[in-house]
Parts: sequence; structure tokens; C-alpha cells
Amino acid sequence: MSKAQGTFYITTPIYYPSDSLHIGHAYTTVAADAMARYKRMRGYDVFFLTGSDEHGQKIERKAIAAGLAPEAYVDQIVEGFKHLWKRLEISNNDFIRTSEARHQKVVQEIFQKIYNQGDIYKAEYEGWYCTPCETFWTERQAEDQVCPDCGRPVELLKEESYFFRMSKYQDRLLEHIATHPEFIQPVSRRNEMINFIKQGLEDLCVSRTTFQWGIPVPFAPGHVVYVWFDALVNYLTAIGYTTDAAMFNRYWPADVHLVGKDIVRFHTVIWPIILMAAELPLPERVFGHGWLLLEGGKMSKSKGNVIDPLVLIDKYGVDAVRYYLLRELPSGLDGYYSEEALVKRINTDLANDLGNLVSRTLAMVERYCDRKIPQPGELEPVDREVIELAQTVGQETENLLDNLELSNALAAIWKLVGRCNKYIDEMAPWALARDVANQTRLNTVLYVMAESLRQVTILCTPFMPLFPERVWGQLGLEGKEELQTWDSLRWGLLPAGTIVKRGASLFPRIEFKEVLEGAENPVKSEKKGSPDKSPKEEMVKEKPAVGQKIKYEDFAKLDLRIAQVIEAQKVEKADKLLQLKVDLGGEQRTIVAGVAQHYRPEELLGKKVVLLANLEPTKIRGIVSEGMLLAASDDQSLEVLTLHKELDPGAKVK
Ligand code: MSP
Repeated sequence: MSKAQGTFYITTPIYYPSDSLHIGHAYTTVAADAMARYKRMRGYDVFFLTGSDEHGQKIERKAIAAGLAPEAYVDQIVEGFKHLWKRLEISNNDFIRTSEARHQKVVQEIFQKIYNQGDIYKAEYEGWYCTPCETFWTERQAEDQVCPDCGRPVELLKEESYFFRMSKYQDRLLEHIATHPEFIQPVSRRNEMINFIKQGLEDLCVSRTTFQWGIPVPFAPGHVVYVWFDALVNYLTAIGYTTDAAMFNRYWPADVHLVGKDIVRFHTVIWPIILMAAELPLPERVFGHGWLLLEGGKMSKSKGNVIDPLVLIDKYGVDAVRYYLLRELPSGLDGYYSEEALVKRINTDLANDLGNLVSRTLAMVERYCDRKIPQPGELEPVDREVIELAQTVGQETENLLDNLELSNALAAIWKLVGRCNKYIDEMAPWALARDVANQTRLNTVLYVMAESLRQVTILCTPFMPLFPERVWGQLGLEGKEELQTWDSLRWGLLPAGTIVKRGASLFPRIEFKEVLEGAENPVKSEKKGSPDKSPKEEMVKEKPAVGQKIKYEDFAKLDLRIAQVIEAQKVEKADKLLQLKVDLGGEQRTIVAGVAQHYRPEELLGKKVVLLANLEPTKIRGIVSEGMLLAASDDQSLEVLTLHKELDPGAKVK
């Protein structure tokens, strides 16, 4: 059997519906989704599967504790999974539930086949079992009667069971791993697995009799199939094994099983041996990613420290949450979650780097080229350097994604984002704009900026599914799908003359203080209002007291106007000052503002700000300042008040 060319079958683990999912689980599915989206963009026929692993003793006990039948218990939790995937913009092609009839049929068929050929036999099991991990352990492995994986107490089991002759396939498996270096990735996990297998595989207990919630063993009443045997087979069921030969041949073997490091062993030892026994080809690749940890260790419901992804999406938006997860976990290694780090990523990578690239580019095209993407003139070496970088970054992103190095791929894209911002600083279009003789050069620079932005947006599409639509709208490329594809990552396709439409800021900065003040939106889903005061909370200062009361007539003396910043530059030898030229609707003024530590000059360019227009002029560093910008500030931060709607400069603020 050989697989159809140009297909890509990727799976996530199927999650236990014992509890709702946390941000660690979300990582796996978001990573698989980014891969699925990327492969679709590359023209592959993608099948992306996720689902729920519903049987077993753990779930049965949970249901009993909740006073529900297992079916009713899992139904409500699985609804929650589906809702979460929707909110995270997960583009799975199917969602498999192991309690479905289609799955029971396939599991029973495979179990029967392996039994018929003599690889499953009956014996007495006596040993240890970790119910939270649904794993059997030998006396030697479960030293001190705790699970070597999760550290929780194991239970002694003694029951009649069916065993799977894993030992028979040990050498074949080692041979397969040796001849297929890509089968287990990253390489550290591969070595770990080789060592594990070389210690000798024992036959695996594959049925249980002491609880009911499972798939019945077809030939042995009272026995249910071991939950991991049942679960792994989901990867076959969903693509039509024994029910839809065409579909099955199209997608099997799977290209990638993306799993957490804790379950690599199940996927690279038990699973390939089941497939060998069933005479099916093995998956191409099992990739074991690291864990998202908290400073205090693992996330767990019992510790009350799980992070709810839904709360984060509500607070920061889905693109930001996805970006953070994919950027923060280094390929194959563990990473640490903190809300502070998430906000930092949003502020630096998204608001400062990417968001600014979008807003500066659009503001300048609007201002200096009458909203039209200009026709570029002759390219200079510096332009070519940016163009070449865009090309190499495209290639690098492809290579890294083909290796599932998602975080490195984002780092590569951000090299381009950073270079583009630096290019804008170096080319200083606002300075070019002062002299009409520079118009051709200005056009070229603006074209390089806008075309780079188009390419950056395409490269970001697999990671942040909502962001591109917003950029396309602003860049005037809405509906122009041919300019949004991976194939269109070629320089110069952005048509000159396209009318841009600047919109709201895509990634507004977030003040960390706001995050801490969002008390009605705690991120931890449990233990609300914990009395522990973190050092961060102490950063939040008391608000200044409201000042003395004044009469309206006093306020009316202030002539506050909307003014548009048309030029901005640093004041020499003054760290805190920017010199701005503002348009007050027919009148231009120069003002000096103490905002340089919070804004680069370009960030204010084009912004509509609020100006105290009747303040007596004053000389600052030899420059006459003819008014004052309004800004809000506290000890740490400062934000210039800006307007986002269509009001013209000169409009009065009352
Ligand atoms: N039901 C099994 C999988 C069967 S696949 C045939 C299972 N389920 S699980 O719900 O416990 O875990 C699912 C996945 O979530 C695993 O890949 C696990 O590694 C991952 N994660 C759980 N916590 C995690 C983090 N804190 N960080 C990253 N991934 C984590 O195992």
C-alpha cells in the first residue's frame, strides 16, 4: 500500500475528558493547527485530526464521583473541548470520540485479528497500575509504590487478562527505528526510546475486568479493551480503516503524530507494534514536544494552578495567545508560562515590532502617497538587501516548519520584521518627504515597506489566523487571494496603485498594571482570589487622589484641539524630548513634548493627538514650543491621547 502524493495527515493526542483542558493541552493542538494550516498553504491535501479519549478507569471513577453515568459525564466535557478549539481557531477536519460506534467497530476488528493470529493470549495479571496515567508498571518500575511518570500512588491489580505479545516484535521495532531516523523526533527522545526498548519489552496487558467503561473484548465477555490500545487506534478509525479504503489509502500512514513528551513511549513502542501485528505501515514521524511548565512545576487541577486558555483569549485575543504559545516553547524542549511573559511578548513582538510595521507603513503610504501604493523606482543596495532577506526568511521558515520547529520559524520571521522596522528608521521617509525632489526615492522606500509587509503577513498566516484578514483589509488586498498565498511569496507582486485603508491598531500595547487589575477576569480557573500577594501585585500603586474642584468656566478656558502629527524628530542631546510639527487644520505649529522615552518619532507620525492650543509659547532647548500634547501617565508608563475616528485636525475637544 502506498500513500497518495501530496497528502499530509497530522494528529494531536486525543485528550482525556476527565477535566477541562488547560493551556498546556492547548499548546499541542495549536502547534498541530499551525502545521496543518501551513501544509494547506503549500498545497497539500491535509487531514488534521483531534478528539477525545473517553474510556478507562480514570474517567469511570470521575463520573461516579460526579454522580453521573460516564456517557453523560464525558458529553459535557467534550462539548467544552470543542468550544475551546473553536475559540482557538483550530481547523481540524474531524473530531473523533472513542465512545463512537465507528471506533468501537475498528478496535474490536483489530483486537480480533491480532488474537486470531496468536499475538494476544490469556493469562493472570499481577502488578501495579497508575490510574491517572492509565499505565501498568512492574514491581521494579513502581518502586515505593508510586508511578515513575507522575509520582502518584499506584494500585495493586490481580485479574485475569489478555496479553499482547509485544516481546515478539522488539527486534523488528529496533530495526525500524535504526533505519528510519525521522521516526522518533527530536533525537533526544529517540535515544531515550532506544534505551528503553533495549532493556527488554514485556508483553502488555490489553484487557481489564474490574470496571465496565470501555470497549468490550469481542470474544471475552466481562473484559474491556485496555484504554491505550483503544485510544491509539483512533488514528486509523478517523480515516476510514475497514470502512473507506480510498480515504484510508489516501492518508495512511500518518505524516506526524504530534504528542507531549510523556506519551512518546506509547506512540513509539506500543503503537508501532500494534500496527506491525495488524500488518499496517508505521507512521512517518512521532514528534514529542516539551511541556509548558509553571515556575512552581507542572500545572495540575489538584494544585489549583491550571491556566484556562479561554480566559486568556478573552483578555488578549486568539492571535496573541497562539503566538505566545508557539514562540515560547522551544522546539522539543520545555518552556515556562507566565502572564508577565505573555504580556511582554504582546508588547514587544506584536505591538512594537509587527503592529508598528503595519501602522507605520500604512500611515506613510496614506500620508505621502495619497493612500496609493506607489510605483517603485530604481532599487538601491539597501532595498535589495531587504528583498533578499525576505526570500531567505521564506525559505528558512519552510525548512524549519518541515522539521516542526515552530518557535524557530517565528524567530526567523521576526528577523524580517525587525529588519523592516530598521529599514524604515534608516530610510526615514518623513525626512525624504520634506523635499519633492526625493519623491521617486520615497516611492521606492514605501513600496519596499508595503511589499515586505505583505510577505510578513503571509508568513504569519499559519500561526495567527485572524491577523492576516485585518492586514489585507488595511493594505487594500481584501479578496485578492492570489496575493495572499504561500506561492505569492515572490517579490514585487503587490500592485502599484492599490488603495490602502488604514484601520485601528492591530495589537495595542498592554500595561502590565491593567493585567493585574483585571480581577474580574482571573486567568487561573480555580482558587479565585487567592490571598497570596505576588511581588507583581505590589507594583500596583494607589491611584492619585482626585484634585480640587473647579468651575466649568475654568475648564472652558482651555482650548483643546485635535492636531495631526506631520513631522517628528528627536531633540538633540535631550533623551526625553521630541520635536513635533502638528497640523491644526490650516495652521501648523511646532511643539516640544517630553515623550521620547515612550515613543519613537515614527510612532507618532500621522497620529491625531489632543493639543492644548492656547498655552503660552515657551522655549525648550532653544525651540519655541507652541502648545502641549495631552498624555496620560503613571510612574512606569506614558500614553499620548490619540483619536481613532475621522475627525479633522482643528476639531475642538470639550
Ligand atoms: N489520552 C491520552 C492520549 C492518547 S493519544 C492516543 C493523554 N491525554 S491527556 O489529556 O492526558 O494529555 C494529552 C496531551 O496533552 C499529551 O500530549 C500531554 O503531553 C499534553 N500535555 C498535558 N499537559 C501539558 C503541558 N503542561 N504542556 C504541554 N503539553 C501537555 O495523554
